[in-house]
Amino acid sequence: MRLFVGLDFPWETKQLLGSLAGGIPGARWVPPENFHLTLRFIGEVPAHRAEDIDLALTTLRARAFPLVLTGMGTFAKGGQANALWIGAERNPSLEALRNKVETALQRSGCEPERRRFTPHVTLARLRDAAEGKLVAYVQSHNLFRTEPMQVQHFVLFSSQLGKEASVYTPEVEYALI
Ligand code: 2AM
Repeated sequence: MRLFVGLDFPWETKQLLGSLAGGIPGARWVPPENFHLTLRFIGEVPAHRAEDIDLALTTLRARAFPLVLTGMGTFAKGGQANALWIGAERNPSLEALRNKVETALQRSGCEPERRRFTPHVTLARLRDAAEGKLVAYVQSHNLFRTEPMQVQHFVLFSSQLGKEASVYTPEVEYALI
C-alpha cells in the first residue's frame, strides 16, 4: 500500500479551502475531502512494513497545538508552476511533530527523508496555467488565513492514485497529548 503521514482537517476548514477554487484556467482543484497536510510521505510498502510503521507511530508522544493556514505559494518544475498551495504559519510544535514522526519512521526502517519540510496544503495541480492569472490569483488571496485550529491527532493515510483525483483513506489516528 501507498502510505503517508499527515494532518486531517475539520470539514469546515476543508469547505473553506474548497471555496478558494476557481479563477485559474487549466487548474485541477483538489476536491475538499482530499485536503490534508503531509508530515511525511512514505510511499509504497508491503503490509508487514505498514504494521511496523503503525507500531512506531503508536509510541510517539507529542503535544496538541493550534495551527493556522496562511500564505499562498506555488511549486515549480522546469520553470513551470505545477502546484498551488496554502502554507502553515511558522509553528515550532508542527516542526517538533514532524521531527518525531521522522525519527519514528527511521527507527521502523524507513530511509531518511532528504527533502526539506515545506508544510503546505495543495489546493490545485497546475499544467500550463497562464502566468498572469496565477500571479493575480496569488496576490488576490494573500490575506487569506484560517482561524487557529487545534490539532489533536495525526493520521496514517493510505493513498490510491486515481485518474481524476486520488483517494486518501485515514487508516489510523494517533492522539496528541
Ligand atoms: P503534494 O500535495 O505536495 O503533492 C499524498 O500523495 C501526499 O503525499 C500529498 O500531500 C503529496 O504532496 C505527498 N507526496 C506525494 N508524492 C510525494 C513524494 N514523492 N515526495 C514527497 N511527498 C509526496
